This record gives sequence, C-alpha cells and structure tokens, in this order.
Amino acid sequence: MSDQDNLLDQAKDLAARAERVAVLSGAGISAESGLPTFRTSQSGLWEQFDPETLATPQAWEKDHQMVWAWYLWRNSLVRDVAPNEAHKALGDWEKYAHVAVTTQNVDDLHERGGSTAVQHVHGTLFNFICSRCRKQYPEQVELPTEEVLRAEPPACPHCGSPIRPDIVWFGEQLPKEPWNNGVIAAQTCDIYLVVGTSAVVQPAATLPRIAQQSGAKVIEINPKRTPESSLCDVSLRMSATEALPILLEARAATRL
Ligand code: OAD
Ligand code: ZN
Repeated sequence: MSDQDNLLDQAKDLAARAERVAVLSGAGISAESGLPTFRTSQSGLWEQFDPETLATPQAWEKDHQMVWAWYLWRNSLVRDVAPNEAHKALGDWEKYAHVAVTTQNVDDLHERGGSTAVQHVHGTLFNFICSRCRKQYPEQVELPTEEVLRAEPPACPHCGSPIRPDIVWFGEQLPKEPWNNGVIAAQTCDIYLVVGTSAVVQPAATLPRIAQQSGAKVIEINPKRTPESSLCDVSLRMSATEALPILLEARAATRL
C-alpha cells in the first residue's frame, strides 16, 4: 500500500465519522470548472497582467476603468462555467452531515453546486458597492459583449462615485460577518477540509490552525504541497474532483 493509499484511508475514516464538516476552499476547487487560479497566468487580453497587482486599492486609484474591465471579464468567465464534481460533492454532503463552507473564491460555484451555508471571506463577483459611500449598488451590471481592457463603471445613485465589486483587495479588511462565521465553523467542526488553496493569504490561512486547536482533524486536498501540508493531519496529493466524491462516499456508506 502506498503512502497516499494509506492517507486516503485515514481521510475516508475521518470523513465517515464526522457529523460536522467545515471547509476552506480556494481557487483550486474551481480550476476544474475552467476558471484560472489566482497564481497561474490568465488568458486572452489579461495574460500580461498579474492578478496580484490588479486586485488592489492602488490599481483602482490609478486606473479604475481597467480594474472594472478585469472584473467584468472575470464575471463573464464565471457565468460561462458550471460547478464541478467537487462543488457538487460538498452540496450533496449536506444530506449526511452539517457542512459549513468558507471560501476565498469570489465565484458562486459552491452555491450552484448545492451548498447552502457558504461564507465568502473575500467577497463575491456578483455584489457591487460604491467606492466612496460603500452603499450597495441596486441595479444589474451590464457585461460587455467582447473583451475590453477598459470600461467605465456605473455611477453610484447616491453620490455619483464609481461603483466597484464588493471584493476584498490586498490590504483591505475582511467582511466581519463571513469571517466570524468562518471562525465559528472552524471551532465547532469534527473535520476541517482545506481544498484547493495555496494557504498563503492571511488571515484565511489561520482557519485550519483554529480548527486544529479546537480538536478537529485537518485534511488537505491539493495536487501540490503547500505551507499547510506539513501542519495538517492528512495531506492528500489529489485534485478536488477526485478526492471529495470519495470522502463523501465514505460518509454516505456509514449511514446505510
Ligand atoms: P491560488 O491560486 O493561490 O492557489 C490555488 C491552489 O489550488 C494551488 O495550491 C494549487 O496547487 C491548487 N489546485 C490547483 N488545481 C487544483 C485542483 N484541481 N484541486 C485542488 N487543488 C488544486 O488561490 P487561492 O489559494 O484561492 O485573495 O488564493 C487565495 C487568495 O489569494 C485569493 O482569494 C485572492 C488571492 O490573493 C484576494 O483577492 C483577497
Ligand atoms: Zn456612493
């Protein structure tokens, strides 16, 4: 039996017994739906730009039309893809256990995969707020019919400033309620699944430690090693769509 087989058996055993499951997901879980991860290169017009410099208040200050166009593009990418077997496994898991998802992803693939308790700690692509008065933008946002490098965001109906995506940029505070719920989920789960995240961006990367300190077993699912790998209880070198259906199956089988 290889080490990985042995680790998968350990993970299945933990999943089979868990009444409360908490998940921290990152871009890797959506990669198999066809969305680029944060630290791989982008496609088309955006190939030459680094997401880590676009997702910043500084980029917005310098060229808000470019940042707006980038988010419109990402928004249309998400609309064109579907949830994959990993998102769906987490949705189906709710039939067998309490499942709380905390995601760093700004897409809506967890919700479309059937998860009902999803905390977006980095915001979502589908909410918009005023860049100045922070009020929610109540209208639908039109997507351009072709890729563009610049677009003018709509004006806030209250103060006339440009609206922006309700997304956490580098250096900005995380939204309080999703974060608090993510901490509570970590403190109260039996197993904590860290799926498809490079586990380098704080404070999200502290959640698995909170879970562990509260007595949960941490299982990582990632084809590559991350800073989390040596800290967690079981680290599976598998893709999300391979591993999550197997763990769900282990849980479903114990109820029969
Ligand atoms: P990254 O792009 O940093 O990491 C994606 C991780 O997914 C990598 O560790 C990959 O090895 C892994 N991965 C790739 N394909 C996978 C698959 N099929 N199954 C499982 N894992 C896979 O993305 P995040 O960790 O989400 O924050 O990045 C975290 C945050 O960094 C983002 O939310 C964003 C960025 O700064 C903000 O915008 C505030
Ligand atoms: Zn305003």
